[in-house]
Amino acid sequence: MTPYTEIHRRSLEQPETFWAEQARALHWERPWDRVLDDSAAPLYRWFTGGRINTCYNALDRHVEAGRGEQAALIYDSPLTGTVASLSYRELRDRVALFAGALLRQGVSSGDRVIVYMPMVPEAVVAMLACARIGAVHSVVFGGFAAPELAKRIDDARPALIVSASCGIEPGRVVEYKPLLDQAIQLAAHKVQRCIVLQRPQCRAALQPGRDLDWHEAQAGVEPAACVSLAATDPLYVLYTSGTTGKPKGVVRDNGGHAVALHYSMQAVFDANPGDVFWAASDVGWVVGHSYIVYAPLLRGCTTVLYEGKPVGTPDAGAFWRVIAQHGVKIFFTAPTAFRAIKKDDPQGLLISRYDLSKFEALYLAGERCDPDTIVWAQDKLKVPVVDHWWQTELGWPAAANCRGIESLPVKPGSATVPVPGFDIRVLDEAGAEVAPDTIGNIAIKLPLPPGALSTLWNNDEGYRKHYLERYPGWYLTGDAGNVDPDGYLWIMSRIDDIINVAGHRLSTGAMEEVLAAHPDVAECAVIGVADAMKGQLPLGLVVLKAGVAKGHEDVVRELVARVREHIGAVAAFKQAAVVARLPKTRSGKVLRATMRCIADGAAFTAPATIDDPKILDEIAAVLRGLGYAPKT
Ligand code: COA
Ligand code: AMP
Repeated sequence: MTPYTEIHRRSLEQPETFWAEQARALHWERPWDRVLDDSAAPLYRWFTGGRINTCYNALDRHVEAGRGEQAALIYDSPLTGTVASLSYRELRDRVALFAGALLRQGVSSGDRVIVYMPMVPEAVVAMLACARIGAVHSVVFGGFAAPELAKRIDDARPALIVSASCGIEPGRVVEYKPLLDQAIQLAAHKVQRCIVLQRPQCRAALQPGRDLDWHEAQAGVEPAACVSLAATDPLYVLYTSGTTGKPKGVVRDNGGHAVALHYSMQAVFDANPGDVFWAASDVGWVVGHSYIVYAPLLRGCTTVLYEGKPVGTPDAGAFWRVIAQHGVKIFFTAPTAFRAIKKDDPQGLLISRYDLSKFEALYLAGERCDPDTIVWAQDKLKVPVVDHWWQTELGWPAAANCRGIESLPVKPGSATVPVPGFDIRVLDEAGAEVAPDTIGNIAIKLPLPPGALSTLWNNDEGYRKHYLERYPGWYLTGDAGNVDPDGYLWIMSRIDDIINVAGHRLSTGAMEEVLAAHPDVAECAVIGVADAMKGQLPLGLVVLKAGVAKGHEDVVRELVARVREHIGAVAAFKQAAVVARLPKTRSGKVLRATMRCIADGAAFTAPATIDDPKILDEIAAVLRGLGYAPKT
């Protein structure tokens, strides 16, 4: 038996022994009574009875062990021309002070705090400060518009919001404060207090009585100590796209999360204390939560917080510059970023300008990685490239080449094998495991390991309905794929209406809700069409109400503006067309998957229940007009 097979087998056969061993690497104020508590199965809890503080384990523990002067966080912002470093001691002190400011504002353990911030160190400080006092943070990605923020305010019902005056995108300053004000206005839950970081690029008007300046809020405040929390207490809620316009609030606990992330740094990423680890994502996504903030700090690494892009800040050598300048050992990003670099610098000429001698491995996730991109990265960088698969719900990699255990042969296009703790199988419609190389629904046998979601925020029923009911005893991932005869996992597509645009997970259902609300639209469908750079792009097809005299171009322009205003720039919704009718089954179900195949030039069989097959030709003609649906 190989080391990987042995460890994976043990993690599934003796989960309690396995995870108790991993948990001992952390500091517990009180040890757990039970490692795995199945008393409320299929909702499982890890380390019940145990008491822990995630912030203590991420910061104070290292300072006390002599790591205080090591850099904990390097802030590198080509967008503002800043490079700054905070040691573990400095970061702990800043977190303790901001935690004191939260306490002074009346925030207490269990209260929610929304963090709507750009990629600045203060965002990390705010998250860890919440963890320190047991407040539950909910970070909202800066690219979302006010109505999306309002939805999250209404679901999380925060006691306080931490925000900043602006974010910075290439060539433009994105003012956050007007979006925040609008969101608070839209939300039914009334937010009493906001703390706002004024950035020099733009100062926001503060609302007296409600808004406090970041620095003033901390003036004369006592630093706060870490509180003892139940391992099962929530650390954060992170909203992610579902099939409808209502995002799902993924709940992460304290104990299982810290144990799993700490373990993943060693087993999956082969990262040791003192190593420099860089995840080029955003703190608003799960990759940012897990691999910019929590995991590297729990492991005693130096994490890099990068406020920039892979290209254009200033060029396609930006990543290599950061890796060289900060001595990055492990680098994690989305395949899209590599496709953008490859487009600007196809020969990878900029790579040779930098000393990448400390760089050991590249990890790619967030979307399917095309084999060409993997091979290009391997060729140009001459380091192992690891495609690994996971999701917001799971919190950490579920399938990967676990280099910290054993490097397995790479098969470009496959996420390699299940990570210890995950029993991943491919099931058919009836729930039976399919033969190797057969595509089916990817499911994970319960219990999920520590670190995966414990439930949805205030919605156990939703958790059961969306993830657990389809196959009793299993978690439904929402992805389709297959396992090959060597046990390698191949993720092929989603089985629902979620699309992946530039590594960002988006709901076509949410976009359809926005289009359908336009007064001229009778019905609509949004599909994800293949895009060479971003993986997928959303495309809207709308049927207008009878008697609409407006030009189609005007309607399309209004629809594009509406999606940007309601969901945000990140939706990247820029294409729509007016069609005479939508293809449907006789029972009225819109054939989105069929239209997607037509757009991508992929083979398909129209369902036997299709109402009128001629509509497919009409749709193909419209899609061809937009540059899709190649004639095969
Ligand atoms: N705040 C405000 N606006 C934001 C934003 C933020 N935090 N992040 C993105 N946007 C805006 C962009 O400015 C862009 O606006 P535009 O329509 O006016 O151009 C829009 O949202 C779409 O952004 P994006 O999809 O990121 O496209 P892009 O063309 O700006 O950049 C890449 C393309 C490939 C460079 C970029 O997508 C990228 O770096 N991707 C890496 C993916 C990643 O980190 N994923 C995280 C999961 S691991
Ligand atoms: P998110 O919750 O934003 O992390 O998105 C999770 C989804 O992204 C998964 O369910 C997959 O559909 C997709 N995904 C993430 N990583 C990969 C990967 N390595 N290969 C294929 N798809 C991936």
